[in-house]
Amino acid sequence: MQLSRIATGVLETAADVVVVGVYQDSPLESAAAEIDKALSGALRGLIERKEFAGRSYEVAPLLVPVGRAKQALAIGLGRKDKFDAGAAFRCSAAAARQLAGKSRSSVGFFLDDKWSTEAGESGVAGAIVGCTGQDLFRAEKNRHPFATLLWSGGSEQTVNQGRILGEATNLTRALVNAPSDEIYPETFAARAAEVAKANALECEIWDEKRLAAERCGALLAVAKGSNRPARLVILRHNGGTKGAPTLAIVGKGVTFDSGGLSLKTPEGMLTMKCDKAGASTMVGAMQAIAQLKLPVNVVGFAGLVENMTGPAAMKLGDVLKARNGRTIEVHNTDAEGRLVLADVLAVAVDQGVDKIVDLATLTGACVVALGTEVAGMMTNNQPWCDAVLSAARRTGEPAWQLPMFPEIYDDLIKSEVADIKNVGEGRWGGAITAAKFLEQFVGTTPWTHIDIAGPAFRDKAKPWCDGGASGQFVRTLVELARSWKQ
Ligand code: BES
Ligand code: MN
Ligand code: ZN
Repeated sequence: MQLSRIATGVLETAADVVVVGVYQDSPLESAAAEIDKALSGALRGLIERKEFAGRSYEVAPLLVPVGRAKQALAIGLGRKDKFDAGAAFRCSAAAARQLAGKSRSSVGFFLDDKWSTEAGESGVAGAIVGCTGQDLFRAEKNRHPFATLLWSGGSEQTVNQGRILGEATNLTRALVNAPSDEIYPETFAARAAEVAKANALECEIWDEKRLAAERCGALLAVAKGSNRPARLVILRHNGGTKGAPTLAIVGKGVTFDSGGLSLKTPEGMLTMKCDKAGASTMVGAMQAIAQLKLPVNVVGFAGLVENMTGPAAMKLGDVLKARNGRTIEVHNTDAEGRLVLADVLAVAVDQGVDKIVDLATLTGACVVALGTEVAGMMTNNQPWCDAVLSAARRTGEPAWQLPMFPEIYDDLIKSEVADIKNVGEGRWGGAITAAKFLEQFVGTTPWTHIDIAGPAFRDKAKPWCDGGASGQFVRTLVELARSWKQ
């Protein structure tokens, strides 16, 4: 898809469709007002007759030529006082998604009327994400990216940054949406290496022998049930000066989670190709960070395994030795993500990174706690969590912190046999007991864990995004790297 910034007015732009924005309970502004005038008040008429109110994601197709365009689409932007970068992303994506229902040669977006830089680039990113679907294998596609996307407003730089963010989000979505027979640890690592090569990232891949030599016993125990060998991918962006602080992004990359011998139900297993979303978010973010040439040092780690039930699979009661020497009693082979992350977090710590953020589709309990759209955040360092939360807020990606009270939760992962066990006592507080387990492997390094089990993958479409992978938190990670001290 071609993306160009345009400076022509809405009535002077020859496009298949022009998109204009309408705020709820506000007078028509700029492009929407111009369209309305050219159509003798048709848009205002729709609003007066309560056919259209400008609520978020509401669309009003105006199927008649206007100016030099063949037709127009009004998209609701919601209330003006509530409008932020998240709303810009979703409203722009909703318009793109609606229009991508059939193939079109050019669509002009006239939304960015004095938007902030953050809203502008989020809007561009949203338009790119909205017209891409999960229908890779359908003969008849549901979504057709436009041949040309025209964006009015913002600076050349804002539009270019928005393109980088949108393409990175789509890269993450494509990795997550790819089925387990196509993307498994080796092929994921190969894809990450291609991304690294194309974007001048340093790339290091540890195979199963190296992982054993590096004492990654917890990660390797998960991989034992599969005939696909494990991998660890390290991507480095050295944009800062040598010796400047390094931000680490760690991702869970379980390319398929059957549950292992603690086998999932068919319903529970159906979408488990999504269990590599943390690792995929890391790869998308690293691509964007490299393309934006951010003047900071960032290193990404992806722990890649397939959790299966093969003859060598780990069993209940097994005791594993993690890289940092901690022994772990396995009570449930479906709590595999924390075993993988245990070793990857320890690798990050040993490489001397300064702060860590990890992303993982870690627990169903987090979805029970916060619902499907909101990520859970847990930390060992409040100022660092505040920085991550604030980056998420600036991009409009919803996240909420859960507590880590030591006196309440620390005892729940103690084992009679080993140092710790891989589940809590019963189901209660499952998102937090999982984070408590991870905390054992980060030492004193400031660390924030983002449980994306809810928002990473949708069973059903939203107005602004097809079902399947969402790519959520790529923009938050980039925003975090932007605010990273140099
Ligand atoms: N990958 C799952 C968590 C998950 C659930 C992700 C739903 C996305 C949607 C994880 O490995 C898992 O199976 N967790 C268990 C932990 C339990 C056995 C302590 C869970 O949440 O049930
Ligand atoms: Mn699992
Ligand atoms: Zn899992």
